[in-house]
Amino acid sequence: FTVDWDASEVEKGGWPSFMDKEIHEDPSAVADTLLGRFDAKGDIALDEVHIDEEVFRSIDKIIVVACGTASYAGMVAKYAIEHWVRIPVEVELAHEFRYRDPILTHRTLVVAISQSGETMDTLMALRHAREQGSRVLAICNTQGSSIPRESDAVLYTHAGPEIAVASTKAFLAQIVAAYMLGLYLAQVKGTMFADEIRQIVGQLKAMPAKIQWVLDHQADQVEQAARRLSGARSFLFLGRHVGYPVAMEGALKLKEIAYTFTEGFAAGELKHGPIALVEEGEPVVVIVPSSHGRDTLHNKVISGIEEVKARGAFTIAVAEEGDPDAERYADVVFWRPACPTLLSPLVDVVPLQLLAMDMAQIKGLDVDKPRNLAKSVTVE
Ligand code: G6P
Repeated sequence: FTVDWDASEVEKGGWPSFMDKEIHEDPSAVADTLLGRFDAKGDIALDEVHIDEEVFRSIDKIIVVACGTASYAGMVAKYAIEHWVRIPVEVELAHEFRYRDPILTHRTLVVAISQSGETMDTLMALRHAREQGSRVLAICNTQGSSIPRESDAVLYTHAGPEIAVASTKAFLAQIVAAYMLGLYLAQVKGTMFADEIRQIVGQLKAMPAKIQWVLDHQADQVEQAARRLSGARSFLFLGRHVGYPVAMEGALKLKEIAYTFTEGFAAGELKHGPIALVEEGEPVVVIVPSSHGRDTLHNKVISGIEEVKARGAFTIAVAEEGDPDAERYADVVFWRPACPTLLSPLVDVVPLQLLAMDMAQIKGLDVDKPRNLAKSVTVE
């Protein structure tokens, strides 16, 4: 059993906090997780995953088990993998998994996502899956940790050590690794053409520069919003499609380190309850999908902004550069460069990470070591 790095020896590299440093490593976490996963022809080659292609071809269902941020990465991946591979993907909180007698067969692939590789809930879930005869593939950031050691295969995320308790760069790396798995399955199962896969890979490779653009050009705007909103007692986050897990991740970050009461909702659910919470001045963060192509969700999300605004909410949109509706209806906009919808979580989460960090700093809180939380939870 070896651990390749020692957390205590890793410096902050001039950043005021580990969280600040790690958010600024979002672009490299994505770039490094893509490295070395292609053969000379440009096809996806997951050499480190020692499961036969034939076995992958037979997989008819994926169940992601994970906790916290890693579970939201799994929810993002569900949208992409179901679209690309045309098999059902369930995402289950690891601590709920084995208590509901899940349907597991030898054709089920269980994907355990964990930054630390030591989360006991996730470890117990994967043990249960293996006992039932399913194969387990770990997506993990920590070499040699328990979860990859007990799995049939591992796809490491190369985010580098993550020290701050609230997970940031690992989230992006987990999405990338899960997407590589999805594209690989599409390749071996033949559900996509090789050039379609290459096109998406090309778009993934363009993401680090887009994430960097957000860090370079939106951080001031985020900080101003954090100053304005640091006294808010609660926040709502809304998103649809892949924006829904991003909304939940944004809400989780703010809970974890700024101790603000937050909730992330699917924007379509607003009218079924959460809108009752909206009162004068309530900050509502809305992840707005691209308005291009066949993305009809855009207008529905914009009308969600109008609805909460009409009830006095202070609205913050995360939207694609130049989106005139976001500009018109939101009080503040955090812009993202244009990118395909399925890849947008990689940019949309970045201002939300910065917002939580800024809010915590403004409140004088320890952003790296929030109260009551541990980086890895090794009890059930
Ligand atoms: C803890 C951490 C969270 C993390 C979760 C899952 O609750 O505080 O930040 O998302 O565990 O951790 P893992 O290491 O399994 O990804």
